[in-house]
Amino acid sequence: CGIVGYVGPKDCSDVLVSALTKLEYRGYDSAGIAVFGKNGIETVKTKGKLKNLVDKMAVEGKPEGHVGIGHTRWATHGEPSDVNSHPHSGARVTIVHNGIIENYIELKEFLTSKGRTFLSDTDTEVVAQLLDYKYNGNPLETIDSVMAELKGSFALGIMFKDFPDRIFAVRRESPLIVGVADGETFIASDVPAILKYTKNYYLLDHDEIATLTADGVSFVDEHLDPIEKELKVADWDMEAAEKGGYPHFMIKEIKEQPEAIRTTVAPRVRAGLPCLEECGITLEKLREFKSISVVACGTAMHAGLVGKYIIESIARVPVTVDIASEFRYRNPIVGEGDLVIIISQSGETADSLAAMRLAKQKGATTLAIVNAKGSSIAREADMLIYTLAGPEISVASTKAYITQLSVMYLFAFELALAKETVSEAECKRLVSALLKMPEAVKYVIETTEEKCKYVATKLITTDSLLYIGRGLDYALSMEGSLKLKEVSYIHSESYAAGELKHGTISLIEDGMPVISVATQSDLIAKTISNIVEVKSRGAMNILVCSEACARTLEDGIADYVIKVPQTDELLMPISAVVPLQILAYYTAVNKGNDPDKPRNLAKSVTVE
Ligand code: G6P
Repeated sequence: CGIVGYVGPKDCSDVLVSALTKLEYRGYDSAGIAVFGKNGIETVKTKGKLKNLVDKMAVEGKPEGHVGIGHTRWATHGEPSDVNSHPHSGARVTIVHNGIIENYIELKEFLTSKGRTFLSDTDTEVVAQLLDYKYNGNPLETIDSVMAELKGSFALGIMFKDFPDRIFAVRRESPLIVGVADGETFIASDVPAILKYTKNYYLLDHDEIATLTADGVSFVDEHLDPIEKELKVADWDMEAAEKGGYPHFMIKEIKEQPEAIRTTVAPRVRAGLPCLEECGITLEKLREFKSISVVACGTAMHAGLVGKYIIESIARVPVTVDIASEFRYRNPIVGEGDLVIIISQSGETADSLAAMRLAKQKGATTLAIVNAKGSSIAREADMLIYTLAGPEISVASTKAYITQLSVMYLFAFELALAKETVSEAECKRLVSALLKMPEAVKYVIETTEEKCKYVATKLITTDSLLYIGRGLDYALSMEGSLKLKEVSYIHSESYAAGELKHGTISLIEDGMPVISVATQSDLIAKTISNIVEVKSRGAMNILVCSEACARTLEDGIADYVIKVPQTDELLMPISAVVPLQILAYYTAVNKGNDPDKPRNLAKSVTVE
């Protein structure tokens, strides 16, 4: 979910809606705002995307005022519906909430026993009612005493009926920033929401309460003692957070990948060698680690899989890759001397954050690879490498993934130097090849987009397809498959090509698309024989391959070949993922889907 709030001279409803448009990637099941108007707190909310809210206000009128809060929801408790939409209210208080209140059932029972009734099924309404129940005329004391009773995660924007000139904000676990400009103040779940109005913001810490008026903002800690906070200045500009002329963020972000890689890699290279000292990583430190676990979710986990192949192949350190929600519940074997790498675009994914905390608790050293500055994972990790991809708005991750890969390479090179499994000269050669990848990716975009667009037209009628590959190509095909199913809604699975014959090949029938990835010369012959096997059973073969692979291919084996220019083989995943992303994008567009907001998915999953 995403929350926003505003106090200032502008039309509050307009500011809230404009800020919420930048947060729709966090959820779009429903949206709502509450503003202090002529008749007290006026709330408008509705099921569906923000546009439904805008349409509703165009018909029914919007609340007029200068102080208010807003919300875009990704349903957790209670189905998406008008009544479950935020804001939620008690008699004297109205709130918006991002997160999950774990003990809301107990609290609801308690409040019910006190005669309170509830309109919705949400955990949020329980918080609103509890605030109202405990209200003693002093908002800070009330919020503080409610916070003491809440278990779980929350970022709350709060309005009290008796204080029409201000809003309050508080958070635990869920992200929240407080923006300030001349004569106006803001709250938001993420910086892009307020960039149109200000670049100056504060990061609210756990259990701190902010009071916002038009004159400024004040902060207190959980003992209600005043605190000073450091003002931050956002280095993302507004344009980066907008579509810049493209029909969708997904294709815009695919095309931003050369720049994203350059920005991420270049500052971390010194004298031709990787240099991660600013991130807290030194050769001495790296020498100590005997094993590495990579823990992440979704696309970030797939970046970890590529990382495993490259780290093991060049630095010879064993790497396991885990899904965060599995890692955290299976008492993982990590401890002192182990490195746990958490990869996350948002830096807020609940399972990844919990997995990192668990790893720390067990004595492991943690390294976060994160895109969102100042996010929870970034702040709590022992070592931190930011991917400098800029804001990623499309739910389907593309430029964040490619920068996660880039960082994995830099890290693997540095580790290999530390472990002395590569010479300095070889490391320099690899780094120089990595520095050329932005150009390679740019070229791939230019040379494969049209072909991918055409091949995508062949996929729209299929219900199900397979991706296959071996080694690095297998890791990559997992991401290709995820990308396609996320945005096109076509069932798709990725298989290690050699594993096909152990069951999956029974699925192949006439015309079923099989997308093979082949960029590693030592495995090409093997993969080609798998392609031949599926062809003889009627599959429609689509091959994404390196030039070297294309040269060895006999005519007629693949129905469509998408050639990726040759780079150093170890680095091929960075360029070969691009046609897989473009293919997914155009398949979604051909099917009439909105690739930026796939159904049921959210950009940042801050709940379990
Ligand atoms: C969500 C998104 C995915 C993303 C995953 C992990 O499921 O829809 O695109 O890969 O979360 O997110 P993170 O922010 O931790 O990289």
